[in-house]
Amino acid sequence: MPLHHARPATSRTGRKTAGKAPAKASASKTAASGSSFPPEFLLTTDLPRDHFPAAGGSPHAIHQAIAEELLLDGNSKQNLATFCQTWEAPEVHALMDLAIDKNLIDKDEYPQTAEIENRCVSMLADLWHAPGAAMGCSTVGSSEAAMLGGMAAKWRWREKRRAEGKPTDKPNMICGAVQICWHKFAKYWDIEIREVGMRPGRMCLDAEDVLDRVDENTIFVVPTMGVTYHGLYEDVEGIAKALDDLEQRTGLDVPIHVDAASGGFLAPFTAPDHAPWDFRLPRVKSINASGHKFGLAPLGVGWVLWREPADLPDDLVFHVSYLGGDMPTFQINFSRPAGQVVSQYYDFVRLGREGYAAIHGQSHEVALHCAAELARHDCFEIVHDGDPQRGIPAVVWTLADRANPGFTLYDIADRLRMRGWQVPAYPFTGDLGETAFQRILVRRDFNREMADLLLRDIHAAVEHFTAHPAPVQEGRKPGYSHT
Ligand SMILES: Cc1ncc(COP(=O)(O)O)c(C=O)c1O
Repeated sequence: MPLHHARPATSRTGRKTAGKAPAKASASKTAASGSSFPPEFLLTTDLPRDHFPAAGGSPHAIHQAIAEELLLDGNSKQNLATFCQTWEAPEVHALMDLAIDKNLIDKDEYPQTAEIENRCVSMLADLWHAPGAAMGCSTVGSSEAAMLGGMAAKWRWREKRRAEGKPTDKPNMICGAVQICWHKFAKYWDIEIREVGMRPGRMCLDAEDVLDRVDENTIFVVPTMGVTYHGLYEDVEGIAKALDDLEQRTGLDVPIHVDAASGGFLAPFTAPDHAPWDFRLPRVKSINASGHKFGLAPLGVGWVLWREPADLPDDLVFHVSYLGGDMPTFQINFSRPAGQVVSQYYDFVRLGREGYAAIHGQSHEVALHCAAELARHDCFEIVHDGDPQRGIPAVVWTLADRANPGFTLYDIADRLRMRGWQVPAYPFTGDLGETAFQRILVRRDFNREMADLLLRDIHAAVEHFTAHPAPVQEGRKPGYSHT
């Protein structure tokens, strides 16, 4: 949620209106002017922007005005930057409507919704191979889930250190190029983040990186299944093995939390034979995933699971009374809408493993098709082609070494915007912090037809800049960031 500065009250022409009685919204003017035309369809004054209106107005006209203003946001189907769902089945819309008045936190009042949340946790424990009674909960998204997973790791580390009579003032974590939520976690909870920047040919966190940085103050290592920048899966198994070996040699026991924001709802279906990355590895103590990304649920749900109850320190758990009993809760928010969790359950049951495999399998195929087409341009070098064994259904490319095609990827992004496509260009991290990359996220509503339309526009953009090279814009800052 961006922070907004309140603006001083101004009129649309910029004239200050603070202190003045604000104009009434909607159709009162018409009524006042004595016209017999029904006022409910006319919006005769500006929509208020910076003052709280004294009176309300016509629901119809105001709804229409707001709906039209929202058209300026662009079309979510053409937003190929987002990992989140941009299509939902009619049944999901109906369930969201049914749950619109339910607060997920009110377990007493809505025990069946609480039961449905529990079922989802159990299903995910099954999907991610928990050995026994895993523990988990829903969250607003992966960011809150990461925060909870991180807090549990910090608490576990601190309790252990205290028990050993050792200092607890310098906790650190090790990760590759992570999503901003981990920077937030590190800042909010006072953790030193040992983030490994990307290097040419080495864009994922690996075992050697971890061993170079780990020490007795490392609360956990966070590999990502589907790195935000390039979509590739990091080698969780290799990192776990290296930490097993470290423990054998030194006694240092460092846990892993897997950020499976995207991969948690992909790899089990589209790469079931992929090397273990989940609770099959005993060192993996917790996992987060975004229900609203490849979990296919509507925006506003994520999940975090712990391998077993002992991995979530009791000190962090709050107890609410529940139908005369006790309901343990662990979350940052209190009130939350229930519809997303109910819809998530619908998706699990409606689709099953087969349905998820079919939907995501199709997305991988579309990604592979796009990658093959883009690779036909000599100027592009594909970084990730959407191969389900290597990463998520995304295509990521850069300009080929020494290519001087007369444009940058930022120019391509701008040109595609003219057709409504949002295909971000942005730099990676570390040694690749000055190099531009471009990415398409393929979701279930981006089908082969849409893909071909986009590819046609990319080809046209390349042809355009080949004929009319774009002016060089020194020091241009990327228009897209992963915050
Ligand atoms: C790897 C990774 N982790 C965490 C997040 C944050 O997820 P959310 O948007 O569900 O909070 C993202 C978002 O893109 C991500 O890609």
